[in-house]
Amino acid sequence: MSRTTISDLAAMKKRGEKWAMLTCYEQMTASVFEEAEIPVLLVGDSAGNNFLGEENTIPVSVDELIPLARAVVSSNSTALVVADFPFGSYEISVEQALQTGIRFFKEAKVQAVKLEGGKRIVAQVQALIAAGIPVMGHLGLTPQSVHALGGFKVQGRGEDAQRIKEEARALQAAGVFAIVLELVPAELAAEISRELTIPIIGIGAGVETDAQVLVWTDLMGLTKNPPRFARAYVDLRSSMKEAALAWKKDVQNSLFPSEDESFH
Ligand code: KIV
Repeated sequence: MSRTTISDLAAMKKRGEKWAMLTCYEQMTASVFEEAEIPVLLVGDSAGNNFLGEENTIPVSVDELIPLARAVVSSNSTALVVADFPFGSYEISVEQALQTGIRFFKEAKVQAVKLEGGKRIVAQVQALIAAGIPVMGHLGLTPQSVHALGGFKVQGRGEDAQRIKEEARALQAAGVFAIVLELVPAELAAEISRELTIPIIGIGAGVETDAQVLVWTDLMGLTKNPPRFARAYVDLRSSMKEAALAWKKDVQNSLFPSEDESFH
């Protein structure tokens, strides 16, 4: 199976075929997700609060994300791998955004990048696309702006819906190949998904978007306090804890390693 391309995603939108995207930060999950045929992986800056021990995504740097993205690309040969531009890596200028995109392309070998924001980043989006770097947009609750938004709240209610629609249209006109819509009313996400010709990827945005994304630790039941919109399909946290406790007990009782696990 060859790697998913942005043209494949455009064709899936035309056919009305839904697809799934997961975050991914290292090699083991990248290879599991290849076996599960997940077509798009996002090396999200959510690595900050799911991998790097940070409170949120804001402290994450390009230098921290590049080795994670490189591990995902080299451990999965079928997914389109998208790297998040972390806070502070694109806002200053078009030149800064280009430098960040070029680093992700050359050093991590990802196939696309994702930027948070709408009209304010159109110049950066256009320059990246002109340089041959496909861009995914991200609107609604944009975690890098959590302080400006006053917390992790639903966006796009009431009059704010119009603003989000206009931001989405502006991103499509700038050439993004898809947009993540995070934590917005399901009705708004459905409307935008119907109007725009590019795929809309929902997270906390109802069931009527063209695709869905989840943070992999939420999906697998590893996150301690997952968001309401996430669903855990397995309780990895309990399974891992049970395995660690059982092994610790065997070590304490000289039951590990066994004869078969030893060398003479
Ligand atoms: O960083 C991330 O995981 C994301 C998803 C929530 C879309 O941006």
